[in-house]
Amino acid sequence: MSGRIPRDFIDELLVRVDIVDLIDSHVPLKKTGNNFVARCPFHVEKSPSFSVSRKKQFFHCFGCGASGNAISFLMDFGHLDFVEAIEDLAGFVGMGVPRESIEYQSGQKKEDLNGLYRLMEQVATFYVERLRTGDAGKKAVEYLKARGVSGNCANDFMIGYAPDEWQALSARFDPKLLLETGLLASNDAGQTYDRFRGRIMFPIRDKRARIVGFGGRVLDDSVPKYLNSPETPLFHKGKEVYGLYELLEKNAKPQRILIVEGYMDVIALAQFGIHYAVAALGTAASQAHLDLLFRFTSELVFCFDGDRAGREAAWRAMESAFSSLKDGRQIRIMLLPPQHDPDSLVREEGVDGFVGRIQSSETLSEYFFGHFSSELNLSEMEGRAQLVIKAKPYLEKLPESVFKEMMFARLKELSGLGRLDVLDNAATLVPNQGVGIGRKRPQDNGRLSSARMAIALLVQNPRLAELVEQWEIDWSELVFPGAALFKNVLQMIIDKNPVNVAVLVECYRDSADEKSIKALALLETLIPDNGVEAEFCDAVNRLLIQAREINLARLLDKEKGGGLDAQEKQLLLKMLTAK
Ligand code: UTP
Ligand code: MN
Repeated sequence: MSGRIPRDFIDELLVRVDIVDLIDSHVPLKKTGNNFVARCPFHVEKSPSFSVSRKKQFFHCFGCGASGNAISFLMDFGHLDFVEAIEDLAGFVGMGVPRESIEYQSGQKKEDLNGLYRLMEQVATFYVERLRTGDAGKKAVEYLKARGVSGNCANDFMIGYAPDEWQALSARFDPKLLLETGLLASNDAGQTYDRFRGRIMFPIRDKRARIVGFGGRVLDDSVPKYLNSPETPLFHKGKEVYGLYELLEKNAKPQRILIVEGYMDVIALAQFGIHYAVAALGTAASQAHLDLLFRFTSELVFCFDGDRAGREAAWRAMESAFSSLKDGRQIRIMLLPPQHDPDSLVREEGVDGFVGRIQSSETLSEYFFGHFSSELNLSEMEGRAQLVIKAKPYLEKLPESVFKEMMFARLKELSGLGRLDVLDNAATLVPNQGVGIGRKRPQDNGRLSSARMAIALLVQNPRLAELVEQWEIDWSELVFPGAALFKNVLQMIIDKNPVNVAVLVECYRDSADEKSIKALALLETLIPDNGVEAEFCDAVNRLLIQAREINLARLLDKEKGGGLDAQEKQLLLKMLTAK
């Protein structure tokens, strides 16, 4: 693939684009006061709660909580990944996307990739023709028929046949391109030959309908049963799933997506009208796979064989799924009866039976706790303690969410250790402590804490960092709730010099602080433009006083126990006399 997109370019894009124009071109906006509003494109609603701020270059829905800058909007609205969103945005403002370096062989340009895509398409068409001609093609069709694959289904999936010849492709297509796409293999002597021979061919298409690789199956019992394209500039196994394009053709927003193991499972299910299955390509579903699929649906169902290997695979999948589980995302685990895969099961039980199994499959939390409960005796204290020890590290990996809180609550319930601190998941069970979250605390009476006000103003007006720099304060010494975040934002602004809040928020994409920063960016401080500087100075002053008091209290406390070292004693003296 092509190289990285330079950070500076992303910043510049965010400065050049006006988010109001961008969103308005997809969702017509209406001006009310300082903001532009519309009915939210991310959830169904009757009255508009989706609002776009030109000043902040940010959108926010008060109904469903969706928010972000222009890049986030395109990612969410168009189901794009980050790079695709950048490309679209660049197109919108009429800029080309520069690349920093080239990961694959020197000089691989976009035009070259287009050439590779064209070749893949031509080869797939050639394979399809070969399925329709000659004795060998007939044998392949018979095989497919025997496995219950209809002509329509074969068409939908563009199934073909690779003739049992060593040079079928190089006689027809450019060998250099064939090598680059992995369709030719070479031996030690440097001779090249067709990688896929005498196999039923399954083209693997990405979500934009481009063929990125192939899978090929033998017609008999020979090995290897399946052969897949190697990693190439077009094909990255860990990122693609089989059947996604075909699925989206039938339904762009499926209620759920089923993840199965094999090509033939996807095809058999589609044949039975279950058009929402995809297969990870002979690997365990990666986090990239899950993130990709969650762009199109909110529920994933993992489907595994019921044998031991299947159960182990299910547990591994669950482990990788944990870190993708944000609120609004659901995962189910479906274990099939022994000796079955989805292909054989749907043929034996029919659609209704199969769909019934999907619907009654275990949710991730049931599966998770069920797994431990089956190996531990929870009627004994020992077992319950083991449960806590084993389950807690997993739960800690979950992103902050209501789901996480519920999982911890369930663990408390099952272990009977509800009151013990060992289970306190401080970040979620004590919500809104410090300034992590932008919502106002009830006891604030509408007034923001100094720290929250200071950080929110800083996030929304990055130029304030210049003021702070002039004050020459030694922040490393200061302790107050939210200090870490304040210092973090300050450092980010000094390092990256973002011109506005949308660019600053971009610096936090995919980081642990992303959510807090977004919330602070959206916080209504109700300070008029010309009062921002004064309010910020006030808030920081209050923080400095607060930090001083905390420091003083800490030193006095320590002093009572007689534990001050010389340096601390001096500091305490200085603080007391200065007061
Ligand atoms: P299975 O052996 O379970 O295949 O492998 P299957 O889909 O049930 O195949 P049929 O029904 O016999 O045709 C599941 C998946 O593992 C990968 C393929 O992606 C396959 O679909 N696999 C399997 C390979 O890559 N190579 C192999 O030799 C076997
Ligand atoms: Mn099978």
